[in-house]
Amino acid sequence: MIELLNVKKVFNPGTVNENVAIKGISLKINQYDFITVIGSNGAGKSTMLNLISGSYIPDVGSIFINDKDVSKYPNYQRASYIGQVFQDPLSGTAGSLTIEENLAIALKRGKKRGLGLGVKGADREFFREKLSQLGLGLENRLKDRVGLLSGGQRQAVTLLMATMVKPEILLLDEHTAALDPKTAAKIIELTEYFVNEYRLTVLMVTHNMRQALSLGNRTIMMHEGEIILDISSPERDQLEVKDLLEMFARVRGEDIVDDKLLLA
Ligand SMILES: Nc1ncnc2c1ncn2[C@@H]1O[C@H](COP(=O)(O)OP(=O)(O)O)[C@@H](O)[C@H]1O
Ligand SMILES: [Mg+2]
Repeated sequence: MIELLNVKKVFNPGTVNENVAIKGISLKINQYDFITVIGSNGAGKSTMLNLISGSYIPDVGSIFINDKDVSKYPNYQRASYIGQVFQDPLSGTAGSLTIEENLAIALKRGKKRGLGLGVKGADREFFREKLSQLGLGLENRLKDRVGLLSGGQRQAVTLLMATMVKPEILLLDEHTAALDPKTAAKIIELTEYFVNEYRLTVLMVTHNMRQALSLGNRTIMMHEGEIILDISSPERDQLEVKDLLEMFARVRGEDIVDDKLLLA
């Protein structure tokens, strides 16, 4: 289980650019939760994921992974707990290395062994089997440089790398947003496959409201650094896309009312 307790993150504190990106959120992520995260641009979604991964350290509050307080651990010390896939298909893999070298790095995630890229025969068989699960023919291209692959193929390899050593949590930050619709659908299909196959706990940011409601068991909505909705199945099954859109409009509308009050 992962828990955020009163976590706050301020960028550029004490300057004119001070920005309270996360205002003090608490969230319990249960084992096997698949949570979709929605919210307008700048709501704090990516910052929340980066706080869980350790890319950012909270200014206030604590983060627990399996009851262990990891709040002050930087990301390399949390690597064994975290799998992540970002929007940019180029960011999750090393383009100048081969497919098997990339997978060899993923296999060592969170382990203390050196970063040598030597690939052993047994590992190669394992990689071939894993790659064949993607259904993209990549199992026959182990020695191809990843830079030769399409964005969708790279994102599929990244997904494989993020889950090859089972993470405590898989963080997906709009990981299909840069892909064409057909490729995005394939990556979503693979995401669901891996989540079910390995029984993963997932936090997935998406702009697609239909996807937010159809995938996983729980949806949270963020707004201005706070969680303003947290709904799980079976209650969530009653929600429709238009309900989410109305909620968006309502939080924006309340801002306008506040502004009017200030001007009055
Ligand atoms: N590294 C950073 N430095 C300064 N401000 C940042 C940084 N990262 C994010 N922010 C700010 O924090 C707020 C939340 O950003 P973000 O978490 O990226 O939102 P979202 O992913 O929901 O679009 C925004 O106002 C953004 O400009
Ligand atoms: Mg973001």
